Amino acid sequence: MREPRLSRRGLLAGGAATAAGALAACAPDQVLSPAAPRPAAASPAPSGVSRVPGGSDGSGGLVTEPFDGVHQAGIATPPQTYGVFVGLDLLPGVGREALGRMMRLLTDDARRLTQGRPALADTEPELAVLPSRLTVTFGFGPGLFTAAGLSGRRPGQVAPLPAFTVDRLRKEWSGGDLLLQICADDALTLTHALRMTVKDARAFAKVRWTQRGFRRGAYTHAAGLTQRNVMGQLDGTVNPLPGTPDFDRAVWVSDGPAWLRGGTTLVLRRIRAEMETWDAVDRAGKEFTVGRRLDDGAPLTGRDERDEADFTRLNAIGFPVISEQAHIRRAHVADPGMRMLRRVYNYDEGLTPDGHADSGLLFASYQADIDRQFVPVQRRLAEADLLNEWTTPIGSAVFAVPPGCPPDGWIGESLLG
Ligand code: HEM
Repeated sequence: MREPRLSRRGLLAGGAATAAGALAACAPDQVLSPAAPRPAAASPAPSGVSRVPGGSDGSGGLVTEPFDGVHQAGIATPPQTYGVFVGLDLLPGVGREALGRMMRLLTDDARRLTQGRPALADTEPELAVLPSRLTVTFGFGPGLFTAAGLSGRRPGQVAPLPAFTVDRLRKEWSGGDLLLQICADDALTLTHALRMTVKDARAFAKVRWTQRGFRRGAYTHAAGLTQRNVMGQLDGTVNPLPGTPDFDRAVWVSDGPAWLRGGTTLVLRRIRAEMETWDAVDRAGKEFTVGRRLDDGAPLTGRDERDEADFTRLNAIGFPVISEQAHIRRAHVADPGMRMLRRVYNYDEGLTPDGHADSGLLFASYQADIDRQFVPVQRRLAEADLLNEWTTPIGSAVFAVPPGCPPDGWIGESLLG
């Protein structure tokens, strides 16, 4: 397939109609169809990728996630192995029109790279050919609305969170006008996409923070299994299931501002795990803290990871088997359509000079309504969650995540267009 003739200047000059037409010709089969991941269209195996039977031949590198669709990719998408979140601040003077140009440009980058095609003027085009389920997701922080002169269209929930008693927030991990969330099953693919998109954002915004995370590798862990966090726990068991009505209700905005329908919101919390003191807790204590077993993730009242926790069960001396302060009891929300989607990544910044881990969780939750879904849970956790002893929130940011777009559209068009 031939690349559409589309120049960077055309995009920067606001050549949306031309760009849209050209790009529409590229991916006619992806119009608003959140399809399953599939190998990059008709891509021959790039040199250096051998194919051997059994699926462990590197051909997973060719698998793409659709970019165009009703919703942005990277949310309902089964989590990839690597994730990076970048918070950017808009440069002074960047207003609505410039934001529109930036989002056209970044959408074009993301559309190409996620489908295994180099970005325009890609300096390392060879790095684009193994998309490895790359997704690029965009979010708008509170300051973007002010910069665009659109304060009246900022959803009330897209604002800094209320202060929680457990917070020890640091400026260098908090806030931001614009979010890039880039995820892939390959670290080099991710690094390339990160560099290309941030380079193109430079004329409009500067990086405020970069947070890199990882999960169990896609090639070492069967799809659908719950991953473990750095504290050793299975993390992600009770979560809305993509493709179900509960997921749609919990995650996608269906009322409120028209421009955000089909979108969602992201709360990103950087939570340090106090590994040295956690190490000092015995196994029973660790399981009591969360309310689930470490080996199979089953609730302390059940046999299987997927068993429902029984919060009414008492032990022989009349105390609840799952403590009143256990993490899963404090975090539990009975209505499945009111839960948040937790799509977390571990982080590890290496070791301190005395050999202690600087690691924890990039807690990313997506929900239709932050005030009704995230805040009450975080309040209950801050009040009394045994886990607080070993976890410290050190960063916090909130973004509106606009809906997806058709092949001739761009992310954010419903707000900025
Ligand atoms: C480093 C911090 C955290 C760790 C290590 C952690 C770990 C866990 C673990 C092991 C589970 C049980 C398995 C599962 O269902 O995934 C769990 C459940 C859960 N966590 Fe956390 N978590 C952390 C922070 C948070 C925060 C900040 C929130 C939200 C404000 C949260 C909300 C939830 C919810 C909603 C559940 C499911 C509860 C249920 O069973 O219904 N967690 N977490």
